[in-house]
Amino acid sequence: MKRKNIIKIAIDSPAAAGAGTVAKTISKHYNLLYLDTGKIYRLIALYKTKNPKKFSLSFLKTKIKKLSLKDLGSKFLLSDKIGTEASIVAKDKRIRKLVHNFQKEIAYNPPKKFDGSCLDGRDITYNIVPDAEFKFFITANVKTRALRRFKELKGLKSNITFNEVLKSIQKRDKNDYNRKVSPLKKTKDSVLINTTNLSKRSCFLKIKKIIDKELKN
Ligand code: C5P
Repeated sequence: MKRKNIIKIAIDSPAAAGAGTVAKTISKHYNLLYLDTGKIYRLIALYKTKNPKKFSLSFLKTKIKKLSLKDLGSKFLLSDKIGTEASIVAKDKRIRKLVHNFQKEIAYNPPKKFDGSCLDGRDITYNIVPDAEFKFFITANVKTRALRRFKELKGLKSNITFNEVLKSIQKRDKNDYNRKVSPLKKTKDSVLINTTNLSKRSCFLKIKKIIDKELKN
């Protein structure tokens, strides 16, 4: 079922570009249900690293059937290792298919208390919510992204060095942009937002201006 007259925002972005931060602020401002779709692939990666012997498509099917937004809040999903593993499991077409419906349900049928949905990921603008009212491609140069992720991981008491984070993000970019299945790309109808020299607030205001202008029409 698809709810009518809701706002759907679709965002694609490479790792650590600031998409999650602005998506959360935007969602709060417009009362939208926010889904960080990367967390789903991270959760699958966590299942894989925790249960390498049990891990299979049927194992995943049963897990995904019971999947709820609460499962995506675990701190264990935030590590760099899980991010890298996530970009490996995310290459598998069969795994992606298993989580498509979950994402679409959130996007097109958010609970009534929300006025719409906002999803961010790698294939949201052209695969999961192709008819979104608003589409954005959020990026920043790789060193800026690595520095942001490095600070985040430091806050989580990780011992990772800046160079390790940089290498890991470069590897993930390579995986995400070049894979055959649902690669990361900017669609023609997405607005490009480069956050390299933008504060969180300026990024929010830039996106808000675009949305408000359209909503007034
Ligand atoms: O967004 P985040 O960095 O948490 O995503 C982890 C990994 O999950 C990405 O590097 C990407 O390979 C994968 N992913 C994806 N499709 C999405 C969201 C994330 O393939 N929609």
